[in-house]
Amino acid sequence: MDNDIAEVLFDRKSIQEQAERIGRQISADYAGRKPLVLSVLKGAYLWTADLIREIDLYVDLEFIKISSYHGGMESSNEIQLITDIRSDVRGRDVIIMEDIVDTGQSLEYLETLLNDRGAHSVQVATLLDKKGGRTVDIAADYVGFDVRNEFVVGYGLDYQGLYRNLPYVGILKQSVYS
Ligand code: PRP
Repeated sequence: MDNDIAEVLFDRKSIQEQAERIGRQISADYAGRKPLVLSVLKGAYLWTADLIREIDLYVDLEFIKISSYHGGMESSNEIQLITDIRSDVRGRDVIIMEDIVDTGQSLEYLETLLNDRGAHSVQVATLLDKKGGRTVDIAADYVGFDVRNEFVVGYGLDYQGLYRNLPYVGILKQSVYS
């Protein structure tokens, strides 16, 4: 897999440092509360695993599965709810964990869903923020790294279902997809 990567952007150590920094911040910001961590499958599973271990609070953990890229390279305009959560979010402080915010449509969809269901607050902790990709006006609350408008894989992020298990985030060689 390493041979398919043009450039490593964020290695395991630097990702871990961001998890520690954001974990400390969330622990302080939510002190005395018991937030509901909502991890967005599939991409956010590694980031969630690292980040929740740096949060020194009681938390509930739920997984929701939505899809926007459909395995390709560009976010589609249509968000699909693949697997919903069962727990009641009414009155809860929800922290969405994402691997990347790109167009922002997935996030907008989730925030609307959670607010409609009566969540007390909704915030977002994302590993990567591709601000240049936004088509909707939405911002993440906790950001590991800003990324340029390039297609990145690894650490949960895929291309056609692959590369999620790379222990770093990198740019895919053009020869892989052209
Ligand atoms: C990715 C990522 C976010 C979303 C971000 O998920 O995990 O959920 O796209 O893109 P957006 O800001 O343009 O909406 P994807 O649909 O690829 O599913 P996956 O996590 O299962 O790979």
